[in-house]
Amino acid sequence: MKLRSWHRLLAVVFLAGCEAAVPPPAPPPPPPPPSTASAPAPAPPPAPVAPAPRFPAGWPHPEGAPPVRGPSMVSSDAALASKVGADVLASGGNAVDAAIATAFALAVVHPSAGNLGGGGFMVARLGDKEHALDFRETAPGKATRDMFRGKDGKPTDGSRVGHLAAGVPGSVAGLWEAYDKLGSRKKTWAELVAPSIRLAREGFTVDENFANTVARVAKRLERFPASAALFLPGGEPLKVGATWRSPDLAATLERIAEKGPAGFYEGKTAELIVAEMRRGKGLITAADLKGYKAKWREPVVFEYRGRRVTSMPLPSSGGVALAMIAHTLEGLDVAKLGWHSPSHVHVVAETMRRVFLARNEILGDPDFVKNPVEELLSVAWAEKQRASIDPERATPTTALAGSRKDSGGRGPHTTHFSVVDAQGNAVALTTTLNGWYGGGVTVTGAGFLLNNEMDDFATVPGTANQFGLVQGEANAIAPGKRMLSSMSPTIVTGKDGRVELVLGAAGGPTILTAVFQILSNAVDFGFDVTTAVNAPRFHQQDFPDKLFIEKGGFPDELQKALGAMGHSLDERGHIADAPAIGREGSAFAGAREPRRPGSEAAAGK
Ligand code: GLY
Repeated sequence: MKLRSWHRLLAVVFLAGCEAAVPPPAPPPPPPPPSTASAPAPAPPPAPVAPAPRFPAGWPHPEGAPPVRGPSMVSSDAALASKVGADVLASGGNAVDAAIATAFALAVVHPSAGNLGGGGFMVARLGDKEHALDFRETAPGKATRDMFRGKDGKPTDGSRVGHLAAGVPGSVAGLWEAYDKLGSRKKTWAELVAPSIRLAREGFTVDENFANTVARVAKRLERFPASAALFLPGGEPLKVGATWRSPDLAATLERIAEKGPAGFYEGKTAELIVAEMRRGKGLITAADLKGYKAKWREPVVFEYRGRRVTSMPLPSSGGVALAMIAHTLEGLDVAKLGWHSPSHVHVVAETMRRVFLARNEILGDPDFVKNPVEELLSVAWAEKQRASIDPERATPTTALAGSRKDSGGRGPHTTHFSVVDAQGNAVALTTTLNGWYGGGVTVTGAGFLLNNEMDDFATVPGTANQFGLVQGEANAIAPGKRMLSSMSPTIVTGKDGRVELVLGAAGGPTILTAVFQILSNAVDFGFDVTTAVNAPRFHQQDFPDKLFIEKGGFPDELQKALGAMGHSLDERGHIADAPAIGREGSAFAGAREPRRPGSEAAAGK
């Protein structure tokens, strides 16, 4: 590959890029009138210039949308869940208490991704201490490396649909760990679960998001009677405006409220899960449930242009990959390229490609494989990637990927929320069933869905999963192993040590690229938090070798310029959901995710 210097990029490609993406500069001001005095008159102050619009005409999400402002905040994919968390903040709970209550509420009001039967990751900052909690699902004890390899050698759909797709759930254990170690003790565990019990028992009104997601996966849900009964009443997907309630889910939450994790991993709930496994020939046993442990991990911490970024370590690739993107780009003056100029999008996409290449090939659960994290986070690694990027041409993934082959595939989803309390403590928490409504299986009599997280393993190493990710041996299935994730709950602090941004996202592999773009929008381009979230997004993940762009967010001339550089563009309706919180002086600004109907930020008192 021909290498060119970045100086040349800045001089040549940058100028071309600016022409395409940024309106031409205003004409120079007229010369001042000739002065009659001997000393030159001071130059008149420049006329105020309205900032040039940065988002393309027709892009539906506004720049500078007013955030929700307050001394404490929750921003999530569901207004009712944000309200539950904000109430906890308003009544004296800390950010962790609010996060626990929000997570349980999402399991009721946003059951496509909020969950009891899935897992996730939490990054928290309390005072100046940072914490990372891993409550990722594990492969059941009876899982085998090739359990999803069909007779033809290709992956079966068992990792995506049905009982075999479920990993041992981690959410309840994780939320309990968070409460036990970091809760304020001003709230009891039962008080934090209570609002969700009420929502499940008394019911709430089905909104557009709930109805849309059910309709999308109705075929999957109708295969499983307990799911059909909950989400397809009378055989039809739930309708907007209907009241949805689940007495079984309320009873499960009551057991959890009363007994803590034992209300889920033992006793009646565990019996119902094991009975469900028997019914559908799944693998999760009573011993798997009893043995599940959430784990505290060392967070990934890195600097990006003077900010401290704290994110999730393995088995989520999120924090490591974010750091790899940031390190590679920090050697460039990204802001000078011009936001969404061809050269800006190109260099970020090429960086994403290289980071995913390493992620997909070599990363896996650190309790099972040795991950070369030190090397991946080294200056030398970042410099090597930077030097390998041709500033004028996309590098085909096949030229970099060794034996891995191109893939297809795409899929949603997951849910993220961000929390800050009035003391400046912060929580970023991302939780998931993997696909919408997981594998489609509701535990009969318990009212909650099971994940299809087994598909996040390399089910047949070298072939694509539902997100089109082609992953390697390091992420092959083994009993008790955690599947590699992209979830990236992240907290950014400024030089003064105060929290500046709390962020994360849903959307499979697009999670970490969306999180980087929001970070860069804020840090490199000075966007306020709503503008940073609302801005059009793009995504590159090595295979499929496509540059995914959000429809309506990339003007024709920008697309042409990227196409001419060798990018194969693929438009998507939207990329990732990322409700976030930013600092505004002594208050916080909550940014909802405008792409997700129902997403809202809510301020505590
Ligand atoms: N289930 C999506 C992820 O963990 O990356």
